[in-house]
Amino acid sequence: MIKNHGNNNLKKSSYFDVSVMTERQAQQELALLAEEIAFHNKQYHQKDAPKISDAAFDALYRRNAILEKRFPHLKRKDSPTMRIGHTGEDGFKKIYHKRPMLSLSNAFTIDDVRDFLNKSKRFLRSQENIDLWVEPKIDGLSASIFYKNGHLHHAATRGDGYVGEDVTANIKTIHSIPHILHGDFPDTIEIRGEIYMDKQDFIILNTEQHRAGAKAFSNPRNAAAGSLRQLDSRITARRKLSFFAYFWSETSIFCAQTMQQCHKKLQEWGFATPPQCRRCSTIDQVENMYRKIEANRAQVGFDMDGIVCKVNSMFLQRRLGSIAKSPRWAIALKFPAQRGRTKVHSIDVQVGRTGALTPVANLAPITLGGVVVTRATLHNKDEIARKDIRQGDTVIVQRAGDVIPQIIQVVLHKREKNSTSYTFPTHCPACGSIAMRNKALDVVVRCSGGLDCKAQAVESIKHFVSRRAFDIVGLGSRQVEEFFEDGLIKTYADIFILHKHRERIVAKEGWGERSFTNLLRAIESRRTISFARFLFALGIRGVGYNTAASLAKKYRTFLAFQDAVDHIRVSKTTFAYRNMKNIHAIGDSIIDDILLFFIKRGAEVQRVLKYVSVLSVIASEHVLNEKNIVFSGILPNMTREQAKMLVENVGAKVSDTVSKSTDFLVCENATSTKVKRAQKLGVKIISPRHFMGMVYGI
Ligand code: IVH
Repeated sequence: MIKNHGNNNLKKSSYFDVSVMTERQAQQELALLAEEIAFHNKQYHQKDAPKISDAAFDALYRRNAILEKRFPHLKRKDSPTMRIGHTGEDGFKKIYHKRPMLSLSNAFTIDDVRDFLNKSKRFLRSQENIDLWVEPKIDGLSASIFYKNGHLHHAATRGDGYVGEDVTANIKTIHSIPHILHGDFPDTIEIRGEIYMDKQDFIILNTEQHRAGAKAFSNPRNAAAGSLRQLDSRITARRKLSFFAYFWSETSIFCAQTMQQCHKKLQEWGFATPPQCRRCSTIDQVENMYRKIEANRAQVGFDMDGIVCKVNSMFLQRRLGSIAKSPRWAIALKFPAQRGRTKVHSIDVQVGRTGALTPVANLAPITLGGVVVTRATLHNKDEIARKDIRQGDTVIVQRAGDVIPQIIQVVLHKREKNSTSYTFPTHCPACGSIAMRNKALDVVVRCSGGLDCKAQAVESIKHFVSRRAFDIVGLGSRQVEEFFEDGLIKTYADIFILHKHRERIVAKEGWGERSFTNLLRAIESRRTISFARFLFALGIRGVGYNTAASLAKKYRTFLAFQDAVDHIRVSKTTFAYRNMKNIHAIGDSIIDDILLFFIKRGAEVQRVLKYVSVLSVIASEHVLNEKNIVFSGILPNMTREQAKMLVENVGAKVSDTVSKSTDFLVCENATSTKVKRAQKLGVKIISPRHFMGMVYGI
């Protein structure tokens, strides 16, 4: 099922011209953007399943940056401009990066690279020419590999940039990564580079997936990410991953003065480095490199999505340093998205869990960037009308990165004479109920059938058991559809009485005693659930995970939340209403959605509560919540701003001076005046390492 996540907000965002926006509007939009960008970041970095194109993501990001620029005081603690990616969830041990694994700022034109160079010169207060080291940008995922006395010691994914996942066992199965370094190497060194899958290996893997009846990967990057994050390293070993090293982060001795020398060293030690790298002294040379690498793209055995321009001198790199999210010494110049022409065979309309009708075009298969594309999202009714996309049309399709392809435009001169405009269904294709827009500004047309609509009912159950919600292992989309069809799971509560149907289920094809017992065990283990997850699982429109978490934090118990909802139902002038509206990111529209949900499905929620215990939010789940923290001296590996952001993210506060109300002084140097004061006041002094451990619970 293709969901339309994200594009609605993008639309909402563009309604307002930032220069005439009120603070309240800006605040609301920033909240929406934070949630939305976090969602897409997670889809991309953690789930390897992006839902929108890079271009659409960039647009959200840019909109956020513009709003923050106009309203700097409204910048949120969880502002997307301060975040890099996502911390890994279950399954892998966490590894704290000695230095954050940053991201790259993006350039979209060669002029942006020119600006980057000028800015660097200004920053360095130098008129001297700066040599750049230009490399292809490999479309994979970054990894950090730590060597001790020349032996591979441990390896981690990027995670959220600060904490990654321990993938040592899996990394060791990659042939192009040496277990033992050659030549003259430092005692300790952390190598950083890109894990990727060759196009050829990707095709072989997908053929095998197909044969085994498993889902195909949409592109080599997803395949590489999915293969690296396997709990069983034998699977990773079979998947044939590769690695290019591009620099080192921490090293016990100084090994090179330039990127050029750095690559040479990496090769000496036994690493493969990206091909087609070159030192460029002029912008023209950079432009030539860009054109050359792009022209060569199809012939190269792996996916590249641009070039990376790095200041060649490591000395200058150190002086340039980094901002919150990316180094000042490097910039990525992306290739344009890949496009092609094909035909729209037909248009299907899918029904989501909130009844949203999403049109999808079935295309004549076309290969874009090595991926066969057969479907493209058409987003919503207005989008089809705006582009006037019709069945039988020849269209230009774009695949940006690895997301659902988009139709850019219709090739009008190829349109058949007898073609007619597409008529959006007036009724739900799944249940026949009337389809309509709920609110004037809503771009989405929805089925009005509610849970009488089979598609909505099935999709909402899929959501209820999904990973971020109840996370019931063994109850995937296929099983939910199957049980729904058989009448075994019609509502959320039915999941918890599935044991009553043991005989029927065990007798079904594909099921047996063991698999059913495992499923019951998985259900059993989820009978206790956090408030935020529970609220998210209910599938209330507008209540994504972050909103659910904010509500949980505010009301602490589900009972208190329900009580507030009941009060608001009676009257919107109540204190309960103002109180809910005061929560960050909650506005009228979400409150309406919540009310409507409980009017329609309150009884069902009560039924679920017979089987499930919803945990209260006791004070806070985080040890640092509401603590006062003071930093002394320079924190290794991160700027003060980054440290502040981390602290605020877990609900703590940062102060400049040590006082009686200080809970922790974070400090490496025992002689500072702050330390003396802390000792006098009996304030606990902890090392930056200890502090990071507390932040991440490791
Ligand atoms: S240098 C501070 N060089 O691009 C990060 N990165 O969008 C400096 N990437 O996270 C990274 N090819 O995973 C560098 N030749 C290359 C690269 C490269 C791909 C990735 C890397 C980084 C991402 C940023």
